[in-house]
Amino acid sequence: MRVISVANIAIYTTQSGGWVFNIEEFDIKLDTEVIGRSFIYCDEVDSTNSLLLTSKEFNNHGTVILAEHQKHGRGRKNREWFSNSGQNLTFSILLKGEFEQTRVNLINLGAAVSVAQALENLFQLNVELKWPNDVLIQKKKLCGILLESTSKGDKLNKIVVGIGINVNQPNFPGKFDIPPTSIRKEFHEEVSRERLLSEILNNFEKIIELSENNPSKILDDWRSRCKMIGEKVKVVEGDQAKFGIFQDIDTDGFMLLKVGEKLVKIHYGDVSIR
Ligand code: BTN
Repeated sequence: MRVISVANIAIYTTQSGGWVFNIEEFDIKLDTEVIGRSFIYCDEVDSTNSLLLTSKEFNNHGTVILAEHQKHGRGRKNREWFSNSGQNLTFSILLKGEFEQTRVNLINLGAAVSVAQALENLFQLNVELKWPNDVLIQKKKLCGILLESTSKGDKLNKIVVGIGINVNQPNFPGKFDIPPTSIRKEFHEEVSRERLLSEILNNFEKIIELSENNPSKILDDWRSRCKMIGEKVKVVEGDQAKFGIFQDIDTDGFMLLKVGEKLVKIHYGDVSIR
């Protein structure tokens, strides 16, 4: 891997030149202290999440890996994440420290908020968030997020926040549970992946601060973009389905489902409108 240096970012790259991703354009708009200051840009990896979870070389807090192609991009519940090479954003952010599970939940919701804010600010898109962390436009999926972690004792010491965004992909052949879309399809123009990534990372750094100092702000920002609260929903957890009203999310980011007169706390699952 070559190392090149652009302004304040240390960049490791497997690209041999002829950038598909313009690092200078990304760097100009990156306004963070830590997140993305170590930036790895790859042609192809197995999965950006796997690389950050296992790499001894790329192990600094705030490191971001962006890959143009993932051979085995992973989604939630061991699903695959498919993305056309060079057209979208598939990247992961490494967080190191000592994290309680509740902080991880906040970062999970907050990652979706940071993507939503970027789409609203840059493209004025009307974004909807779906619990726990999908980003939708007009009920179609634009972005998926997968958090993975490693633990030491009873605390998590490493969190990898993996984000896949359909940016400039023009079409999506195949069958999907939730129909996919891209920014290009919704905004009717090709957009700058560099500008979008810097904006998301700028937002995400603020989310990390809020997860420590003002978690209720993340919860409120998430709630205000969730259109399913108050609706009758179906939640599938493994091979079990639960039906009820999506009452709210609690202070730890779990979903509260009203089943008859009881409030049931949902830790994970796929939610759909009944
Ligand atoms: C989902 O909606 O199921 C989550 C999809 C997460 C995909 C991203 S792409 C970058 C990162 N690397 C992976 O292997 N997965 C995540």
